[in-house]
Amino acid sequence: MRHLLSTQDLGLSDAVRILDTAEEMAAVGEREVKKLPALRGRTVVNLFFEDSTRTRISFEAAAKRLSADVINFAAKGSSVSKGESLKDTAQTLAAMGADAVVIRHWASGAPHRLAATDWIDAAVINAGDGTHEHPTQALLDAFTMRRHWSRLAGTPSAGADLTGMRIAIAGDVLHSRVARSNVWLLRTLGAHVTLVAPPTLLPIGVDAWPCEVSYDLDATLAKGVDAMMMLRVQGERMNASFFPTAREYSRRWGFDDNRLRALDSLGLKDTIIMHPGPMNRGLEISSAAADSPRSTVLAQVRNGVSIRMAALYLLLSGDTREPAAPAIAAH
Ligand code: CP
Repeated sequence: MRHLLSTQDLGLSDAVRILDTAEEMAAVGEREVKKLPALRGRTVVNLFFEDSTRTRISFEAAAKRLSADVINFAAKGSSVSKGESLKDTAQTLAAMGADAVVIRHWASGAPHRLAATDWIDAAVINAGDGTHEHPTQALLDAFTMRRHWSRLAGTPSAGADLTGMRIAIAGDVLHSRVARSNVWLLRTLGAHVTLVAPPTLLPIGVDAWPCEVSYDLDATLAKGVDAMMMLRVQGERMNASFFPTAREYSRRWGFDDNRLRALDSLGLKDTIIMHPGPMNRGLEISSAAADSPRSTVLAQVRNGVSIRMAALYLLLSGDTREPAAPAIAAH
């Protein structure tokens, strides 16, 4: 693996290797080891052309826990405002010695462009491109589900896939890079995925994706789901014609207090509620649902550091065919 651009590029063994490596990283963290020397002398550049809280900070934390040096770049306040191009910006940062570039960009395909050219000689990680993909978000979501269900079953996470699990992803699919990356990865891991959205918030061509599509959240819940993933309504990427009224959206596609209560009457006692963040509380998810014991929102954030450690480690440490554990020595 030279770059991490899309979950469509990951076969089952690649995906399980990343999840298993993240498991090793989490286990080291749980032993309260703050830093590993694995990437000492390497430099990770966080190149963010769009705002981020979770992804940027967790990549920074992940790189530092592996002892890499980190350069943070935000387009706001940089020479991008003077018209500097992606190529010139990337090459400027690469000239300072980047071994990996973590890029978030408003343009779908920007990370692929960076990886496909000879502009820079560094591993490229897609941290979210336009409405296209967000592969490390999907990996941390899968990691969270796998950990949760393995613990419930009393079986080890390592080596496990998600065969047979029923996962519904609901909301603004049209603008969601999280949904796209999740559909491909979850399918590769053997899960059954249903997308639920208003017709105006589904992309053209969704019928060809490897999942079911529904307009009806209650009908989907009634069939049974093991994980209910709510998507952020991306108001900044849409105009009013896309959108039912906020009240109608919340009533028909939001995970509100009534739907939270309904999980019990539907016999779904172990169903988890997920959200990648940031959340629009009261629109796609109620506070009661976001803060309930079923919610994995903060576990997802925590697990993001382990997944990003795994991605950086596998891309920068050389041989991706070897398991991580023997190569990692704590200070
Ligand atoms: N989930 C996610 O990508 O959050 P940020 O935009 O805060 O990074």
